[in-house]
Amino acid sequence: MLRLGVLVSGSGSNLQSILDNIKSGYLPAEVVVVISSKAGVYALERAKKHNIPATVVIPKKYKTREEYEDELIKTLNSYNVDLVILAGYIRVLSPYFVRAFQGKIMNIHPALIPSFCGEGYYGEKVHRAVMDYGVKVTGVTVHFVDEGADTGPIILQRTVPVMDDDTPETLAARVLEEEHRIYPDAIKLYAEGRLQISGRTVKIISKEEI
Ligand code: GAR
Repeated sequence: MLRLGVLVSGSGSNLQSILDNIKSGYLPAEVVVVISSKAGVYALERAKKHNIPATVVIPKKYKTREEYEDELIKTLNSYNVDLVILAGYIRVLSPYFVRAFQGKIMNIHPALIPSFCGEGYYGEKVHRAVMDYGVKVTGVTVHFVDEGADTGPIILQRTVPVMDDDTPETLAARVLEEEHRIYPDAIKLYAEGRLQISGRTVKIISKEEI
């Protein structure tokens, strides 16, 4: 059973979809700890409802970024986490953290990387930028986290249409529906040992090739 540590900062609907897919038996994994960068967010309630240990680690309470990330690393290691899942986590992790979990951190981004991504592109800001630009198609990307902001090897991407009468809110809702399908799919591929990273490319191998 793959042991997941989920990092959140908000509502945690992606956390919920992961929990639902574990419950249904689709995902051979277990969420062993949830860490939030903000107090009082709904993601913490969701963890509580499922009896999952949840902790709040607030960046500004630490003198340095390294001290903050040390706390994250210590917590994740104390739960023997195999894979770190960023699910609406607002911070960009430094190379120090990334090296501690090399190739074992996944992120979901609500657009088609390399468009509308990088530092500052978070949540509704992404959808607003998509609409301001006037693209007809956006989507979702799940990728491994490397030392840059949204630059790591891409695991899965799916498209979502942008409608003429969309607002950032209606577009976000349509994208979120796809997020709730794609993240469990990506984690399942990892759990099955079917993701092969070669440079920037992630190859999905068949069950026979494992
Ligand atoms: C999701 O749309 C996720 O893709 C986005 O934040 C939202 C969190 O929703 N993440 C980013 O923008 C990361 N750059 P959730 O808390 O309901 O899962």
